[in-house]
Amino acid sequence: MYTLANMQDSIKKVEATRAQRMATEPRRMTADEKDALLAAYHPDYKEEGFITLKVGPNKGEKVPTELGYLLESNSRILGVDIDLDKVDYDVDVLVIGAGGAGSSAAIEAHEAGANVMITTKLRIGDANTMMAEGGIQAADKENDSPAQHYLDAFGGGHFAARPELLRKLVMEAPDAISWLENLGVMFDKDENGRMVTTHGGGTSRKRMHACRDYSGAEIMRTLRDEVINRGIPVIEFSSAVELIKDDKGQVAGAVLQNMETGEYQVAKAKTVIIATGGAGRLHYNNFPTSNHYGATADGLILGYRAGAPLLYQDTIQYHPTGAAYPAQIFGALVTEKVRSLGAMLVNVDGEAFMHPLETRDVSAASIIRECSDDRNEGVETPQGKAVWLDTPMIELIHGEGTIEKRIPAMFRMFMQYGIDMRKEPILVYPTLHYQNGGLEINGEGFTNTVSNLLVAGEAVGGIHGRNRLMGNSLLDVIVFGRDAGKAAAAKAKDVTLGKMNLDHVEKYAETLKEAGIDTGMVSPQLLPDYAGKRHL
Ligand code: FUM
Repeated sequence: MYTLANMQDSIKKVEATRAQRMATEPRRMTADEKDALLAAYHPDYKEEGFITLKVGPNKGEKVPTELGYLLESNSRILGVDIDLDKVDYDVDVLVIGAGGAGSSAAIEAHEAGANVMITTKLRIGDANTMMAEGGIQAADKENDSPAQHYLDAFGGGHFAARPELLRKLVMEAPDAISWLENLGVMFDKDENGRMVTTHGGGTSRKRMHACRDYSGAEIMRTLRDEVINRGIPVIEFSSAVELIKDDKGQVAGAVLQNMETGEYQVAKAKTVIIATGGAGRLHYNNFPTSNHYGATADGLILGYRAGAPLLYQDTIQYHPTGAAYPAQIFGALVTEKVRSLGAMLVNVDGEAFMHPLETRDVSAASIIRECSDDRNEGVETPQGKAVWLDTPMIELIHGEGTIEKRIPAMFRMFMQYGIDMRKEPILVYPTLHYQNGGLEINGEGFTNTVSNLLVAGEAVGGIHGRNRLMGNSLLDVIVFGRDAGKAAAAKAKDVTLGKMNLDHVEKYAETLKEAGIDTGMVSPQLLPDYAGKRHL
């Protein structure tokens, strides 16, 4: 039962075991132990929480229920009279989404001389990139190599990553860091001017580059400045609600909807890049989320309805350490960097139940097991059970002042509620963090089935396989964003568009009808459903 007194008793146990725990590193799990743990406790491995798709390119495959309902709903513009002859914007490259991937793509498309425009349902930078904390991986030190980076990520993703995509990610990582630094990102450096790098879960080398614990905010700040300085048009509060095709079946732009007035606009484009980010705000399995308010899988819906298949849409990343207490920050990200700096995960009795830097899916499953009725070793909180992250260890290991210096955002987040993480442990539980799956692309960033349609960032499936390592997402938005921008600009030079139409919207509606599906909803969802209007 939750009482403050019980919580305080448990803190005493954490304190009592600290010295002994610090003297013995918890052992790593064997591969068999990890497999058994995942099968029993990770939400991806359960039947509940998923449905099987009945229509579309991934018909017959498993998908999270909330996403499945959206994929099998009709378009928001079905039956709406949209005049495609009245073109509001006519560009070479249309980028949908203004986070890290969309901004990187737009910058490179602009650099290549293309007429590029960004449309975004909120504002530029309102994205998961902005929320990223711990860092960005790149093998750019003497003891490391892209091959080593590849092996870590390939193993961490259960050997499921598309080799050509993962290869691109690791090979282009050092250049991504230089590019960002030249644009103005202030990475953490030591007194000799060398980048400070740390481990993340599943890394064999210290290759996490960071800007304190607001790495994403610093990167997004820089990208946003660059987009604005270049004068790239950004249409804010303007959602792409449907792709437009032409009579040759190529993508030819998008229907945009003004989020304030509801008015529709037509954006014609020779190439389109979907960079709409993740899906945390769909709250799969009723988990809280670390994601940005706009993370509702919109790009997946647009691409799927236009005929682009998804890959690994059934694998979701639950970040092991979402804040579990107090309620005001429930689900907010507690960066993995806290564990990189040495804080251990500890149960109600003060026991370290796992190595703190196992990969994320294994760590999340391990915490869920500890809090399950099978073990009953979680700490009771008003929101449910949780485990301790023993943060005072950080200052004992690295010296006084480390927390304020290296993870100031975490320090402030908890201090706001009177919790001094330098002196007392904090409570954590997994939070919905990342969609491992997304739209399938080839090595050049294009979908295989819809001509001239590219995808970049979290909306892509296959870069990381079935689990992603920390710091490889900030990296993928830069690498795949930049490459998509270059490829889209180059491709646009050869594209001649035919007559625009929305036939695929009608056809999809017919397919749904034939399959007897009527969700009573329309998609994309655009904003979270906190008013509870959806019919799941
Ligand atoms: O824990 C974190 O800071 C998250 C990083 C990531 O998802 O890459």
